[in-house]
Amino acid sequence: MTTLLRGRLLSFRRAPQSLTDTDSFTYESDGGLLIENGAIAKIGPYADVKAKAPADVVEVDHRPHLIMPGFIDMHLHFPQMQVIASYAANLLEWLNTYTFPEECRFVESDHATRIATHFYDELVRHGTTTAVAYCSVHKTSADAFFSEALRRNMRMVGGKVMMDRNAPQGLLDTPQMSYDETRQVIADWHGKGRNHVAITPRFAITSTPEQMEAAAALAREFPDLHIQTHLSENYDEIKFTGELYPEAIDYTDIYARYGLLGRKSLFGHAIHLSEREADAMSEAGAIAVHCPTSNLFLGSGLFPLKALSRREKPVRIGVATDIGGGSSYSMLRTMDEAYKIQQLLGERLNPLESYYYMTLGNAEALSLEDKIGTLDAGTEADLVVLSAAATPAMALKMEVVKTLPEELFLLQTMGDDRAIVETYVAGKPAKTGLVNS
Ligand code: GUN
Ligand code: ZN
Repeated sequence: MTTLLRGRLLSFRRAPQSLTDTDSFTYESDGGLLIENGAIAKIGPYADVKAKAPADVVEVDHRPHLIMPGFIDMHLHFPQMQVIASYAANLLEWLNTYTFPEECRFVESDHATRIATHFYDELVRHGTTTAVAYCSVHKTSADAFFSEALRRNMRMVGGKVMMDRNAPQGLLDTPQMSYDETRQVIADWHGKGRNHVAITPRFAITSTPEQMEAAAALAREFPDLHIQTHLSENYDEIKFTGELYPEAIDYTDIYARYGLLGRKSLFGHAIHLSEREADAMSEAGAIAVHCPTSNLFLGSGLFPLKALSRREKPVRIGVATDIGGGSSYSMLRTMDEAYKIQQLLGERLNPLESYYYMTLGNAEALSLEDKIGTLDAGTEADLVVLSAAATPAMALKMEVVKTLPEELFLLQTMGDDRAIVETYVAGKPAKTGLVNS
């Protein structure tokens, strides 16, 4: 089936240098997007695309809404949907009191299957079409995560967490088990449908050196896979990590020693990096994944996004919700908080940059920009349709909005799932079919 979407189209070409950097994006005020077999076949002014479309094309008119590439969430925890909104003083208390006990439940495949349904419903409801997720330590959780992604034909990255110490018994594997089960998850799911498996040692605190060796072996055997872990989120965490790995120069060096620092390595948080660590990240091309709602909610710190990206040796950056340390599934809410964090640091994060990060920026951080993150012909038709007048208060403000950046900023500042009119997954509408969409 061939579909033609009509609406205002916005897609980034590269990172915007300023609010007036109009070369950094493509904008069609009356655009047409032709979708064939789940991919974008043509993009351009509506009249041009329509003129070349097949006679039996199915048209969907999304005017006056904005059509963008679907949002990408670079870091969140699938088993933490019922951890969100847990009252804790800091990261380690939050993990031990709420998060670890909750993740123990994912040994039950019925529970994992039920939560997987809710997980993808929430992503779609919030306009997120690709996410990079941690499952629990149990293979059952990875099976539930990937089988539901396959059923919905969503491009997902995920991994069975490797953890063999400093957590309850029900959440521990062993170095050998974590190696064997990760290999099995790769064999079962990597490349099936649109699934990608990531090697996922939770963080240095919950992995012995022997387990880090197992992760290193996996990284050597599967060099194309993403690696995800946590880095430098909280001062107590950093101190404890240093005690566990006294031979390492710093936290980043632990991962480097095990061959886990490279272009496909995704480090959640990375808030409190030293200059040496930032240099090491930059030289390796590793990604620091900013999780603003989580960093504020857990009181972890203010991520120096601007300072890291304008260094002589810039650090590559992704953005994410970090559910359930994070407090919203919405990438709009996420970038609103990212903006406020930069404000507190005396920096400006302009709205063009925010939307770049949520789409092409995150796709580049995943090395998947040939598939997702833009509206370029030949890429997958994962899309979000946005309304900046979604609530009465937004509609009122919209009356005085004059420019595209102003509209984007309003959407980011006041928008949430109500601003998501539709989410397309591989060319198919996925939000309006949800119960309570
Ligand atoms: N560090 C290790 N595990 C976690 C987690 O689940 N959430 C957050 N925010 N940080 C972590
Ligand atoms: Zn996390």
